[in-house]
Amino acid sequence: MSDNFNTIAGWTLAAGIVALGSSLVMGQMFHHEPVTKDGYEIASAEGGESGGGGDKPIDWAEADPAKGEKVFAQCKACHTIEAGGANGTGPNLQGILGKSKAAVGGYTQYSDALKGKGGTWTFEDMDAWLKSPKKFADGTKMTFAGISNAEKRADLIAYINAQGSNLPLPAGAPAAAEGAEAADAAAGGNEAAAANAAAPADNAAAPAAK
Ligand code: HEC
Repeated sequence: MSDNFNTIAGWTLAAGIVALGSSLVMGQMFHHEPVTKDGYEIASAEGGESGGGGDKPIDWAEADPAKGEKVFAQCKACHTIEAGGANGTGPNLQGILGKSKAAVGGYTQYSDALKGKGGTWTFEDMDAWLKSPKKFADGTKMTFAGISNAEKRADLIAYINAQGSNLPLPAGAPAAAEGAEAADAAAGGNEAAAANAAAPADNAAAPAAK
């Protein structure tokens, strides 16, 4: 009997030591986890939307609200945009262009980061915001990686504008845009600029099919 008792006590002690040891190991694992997680989130924020056209200036004359409505599908999990639509995780976006930032009635979840930006939603600010919410308002509660493709952003913003704002789109007629590109491409001439302009359009089609 007492032999048995000692054996059981021995195993219990051993089990305790194993448990202690593994909890230390686990502790270290958990200690490291946030670092891995942060790394992943940053990677997904930067790389979430690949595809060409990231740094191209927006050509508003080419912006297509019908295409933008499809891009807006990415926003619907958190936003309504129709007049009188409910606030969700994010505020209702009816007529948001031209409105003061962080001022939608009845929406109480605004971050200090967005409230601190001030001013109204211009096309320029909206473009920067949708390219990278985090870069535009560091500390924002809008957990959305952003849309790196300038043409998709232009389509989306044209769609948003058509939902209650109806402001004139910024000047940026194709002629002016092509002129700027031709100047950039100095030696290359207009053909090179036109080829550059065509490439992102091809890329834009691929992510939209997702
Ligand atoms: C995961 C949820 C989520 C998604 C997806 C999302 N948003 Fe948001 N959005 C928010 C939240 C939350 C806020 C408030 C942010 C803050 O206060 O920092 C916000 C704020 C905004 C604002 C500012 C509103 C104001 O009153 O100033 C705009 C504009 C906006 N979102 C547009 C979009 C668009 C366009 C998309 C799709 C491309 C999108 N959002 C996707 C959650 C989301």
